[in-house]
Amino acid sequence: MSRTAVVTGGGSGLGQAISAHLAADGHRVAVLDVNADAANIVASAITATGGDALAVGVDVSDEHAVEAAFAAVRDAYGPIEILVTSAAIAGFTRFDKITLDEWNRYLAVNLTGTFLCIRAALSDMVAGKWGRIVTISSAAGQQGAPAQGHYSATKGGVIAMTKTVALDYARKGITANTVPPFVIDSPMLRQQQEEGKLPATELLTRAIPAGRLGVGEEVAAVCSFLCSEGAGYVNGQVIGVNGGAVL
Ligand SMILES: NC(=O)c1ccc[n+]([C@@H]2O[C@H](COP(=O)([O-])OP(=O)(O)OC[C@H]3O[C@@H](n4cnc5c(N)ncnc54)[C@H](O)[C@@H]3O)[C@@H](O)[C@H]2O)c1
Repeated sequence: MSRTAVVTGGGSGLGQAISAHLAADGHRVAVLDVNADAANIVASAITATGGDALAVGVDVSDEHAVEAAFAAVRDAYGPIEILVTSAAIAGFTRFDKITLDEWNRYLAVNLTGTFLCIRAALSDMVAGKWGRIVTISSAAGQQGAPAQGHYSATKGGVIAMTKTVALDYARKGITANTVPPFVIDSPMLRQQQEEGKLPATELLTRAIPAGRLGVGEEVAAVCSFLCSEGAGYVNGQVIGVNGGAVL
């Protein structure tokens, strides 16, 4: 069945792969990203291959911009039925060097941004008695990560918030699950390696039982299942995509 889907952070990396996969599943996909050009490229690539996608530039930490973006999707595609939140920022700062501004920015984008998008989508899902919410969290939110106290805190918050949404809306036909990846090959990861903030791939893979990095498509495939009709009894779950690195 064809549904209306919103993917935040859809302009790059995991969000790009998730947007493409949901479009290939037959859904109408709104690609939301603060980088409007990137969102446009992803939406154009989907439409060029026969899918249905539109791009919306939005900063997910801006309450009014999020409401306007979801209203634009609703106008174009009808009520929102699927939401995948992939938009986030990530970086490395030793805990005692994290400034309050930096801390607040991580909270605003990663945690408040996820909250604002879920809230903006819920009214349609409640009215339609059907909804699928998938948050992309992180293994850092499950077990911490060196020099990522701010990032880890936001991702732990995303995991707890997702479980709560699952409980609150379980009787309304809505599921909420979270996918915490470990290291997935993406522009975010490569930039961190280039900046010397993450070890080289050979070193990273030593910590992964699978012996390799993940790819965006492997996260997208799990999101696709969690957004499907058949996943209606999977709710409030933390579905790691991590090559066995977090058990
Ligand atoms: N790549 C990994 O190894 C990895 C591991 C664990 C978790 N994650 C999570 O997966 C998700 C995607 O990461 P990625 O690796 O694809 O990163 P990425 O940087 O390639 O993509 C993130 C996207 O989010 C967008 N974005 C950033 N701030 C935004 C804002 N304020 N409003 C709207 N859009 C915004 C960026 O423009 C970008 O297009 C993130 O939530 C990240 O925390 C990634």
